[in-house]
Amino acid sequence: MTPLLQVTDLTKHFPIRSGAFRSGGFRSGGGVIKAVDGVGFSVDAGQTLGLVGESGCGKSTTGRLLMRLLEPTSGSIRLDGREISELRGSDLQEYRRRVQMVFQNPSSSLNPRQSVGSAIAAPLLAQKITPPGGVKARVRDLMDRVGLRPDHYNRFPHEFSGGQKQRVGIARALALDPQLIICDEPVSALDVSVQAQVINLLEDIQRDTGVAYVFIAHDLSVVKHFADRVAVMYLGRIMEHGDTEEVFRSPRHPYTRALLSAVPQADPAADRGGRIRLVGDLPSPADPPRGCVFRSRCPVHPRLDAEQRELCSGEVPRRDIACHHTEAVAAALTAATR
Ligand SMILES: Nc1ncnc2c1ncn2[C@@H]1O[C@H](COP(=O)(O)OP(=O)(O)O)[C@@H](O)[C@H]1O
Ligand code: SF4
Ligand SMILES: [Mg+2]
Repeated sequence: MTPLLQVTDLTKHFPIRSGAFRSGGFRSGGGVIKAVDGVGFSVDAGQTLGLVGESGCGKSTTGRLLMRLLEPTSGSIRLDGREISELRGSDLQEYRRRVQMVFQNPSSSLNPRQSVGSAIAAPLLAQKITPPGGVKARVRDLMDRVGLRPDHYNRFPHEFSGGQKQRVGIARALALDPQLIICDEPVSALDVSVQAQVINLLEDIQRDTGVAYVFIAHDLSVVKHFADRVAVMYLGRIMEHGDTEEVFRSPRHPYTRALLSAVPQADPAADRGGRIRLVGDLPSPADPPRGCVFRSRCPVHPRLDAEQRELCSGEVPRRDIACHHTEAVAAALTAATR
């Protein structure tokens, strides 16, 4: 079966600006920031992919590429088997209906001078769609769906809490009955108690409508109970991609192990993997390590023999686990945490 969304070898390199302003534009310094560097994953209809990684690893850039807000440097994004970069005219307009986005900061994604009702109606008006019963009735349905009261219709964003504003953002994303919503850290700016409410709401909506999500988070624990599959990103690449349950039960990439061991366990007995600390600083995406990009921080790399270490300097095949030594990793980490 064709997945709803298939991303293959997706790359976005931003030219580094020298800062010198010449002849009407910034001069490129020649180098590039490898924000997204050969990313691949798939999402089935009605499912959730958790896209997780530290700040700066390329999650939002991936989201913006999926939204066609950015042109990729290379690679492929297919929705229902169709290459999105080739969509024009009415096909592109349909794509803009089928794929929506919810942003991290609900305050900045809402116009302070626009009432909540108008904000939710905006996508319908922009696409010139009049739902049966009219726009107002549809907006009231959407508000009810996300847990906003009818009297919120004429209120303005500043009268709302962060969680309520995010509900407005979700209602707006739902207005056109999308098949896929890119949620870019939709709960990161919210209090922990409100985070759970918003995630529950997204889950309820998925159950009722069959919408799929790419759910971006910097914290693996956020996606644990929610995502069907998870892709762990580091310096523009996917380190590990698999079923959420399996990745949490037996993470195979040292980076995933490190991220998971940073998640506090409610049950200390469940903390079987012990603590694995990342060494060193995050390298610049303008100058990532050659070969395995995780090499400079990999806790296993220094424990490998010379021949194995040499392999880490070579290109890592793009596959579900981006590591040359998954077996050595498992052995080394098990030994280290005994
Ligand atoms: N428009 C841009 N121009 C240049 N660099 C960018 C641009 N957008 C993002 N970047 C850089 O690309 C990298 C990935 O950024 P981003 O996708 O926002 O990461 P994340 O969402 O995971 O925090 C960062 O180093 C960021 O500074
Ligand atoms: S390829 Fe080498 S450096 Fe990279 S994650 Fe695996 S063991 Fe570590
Ligand atoms: Mg981001």
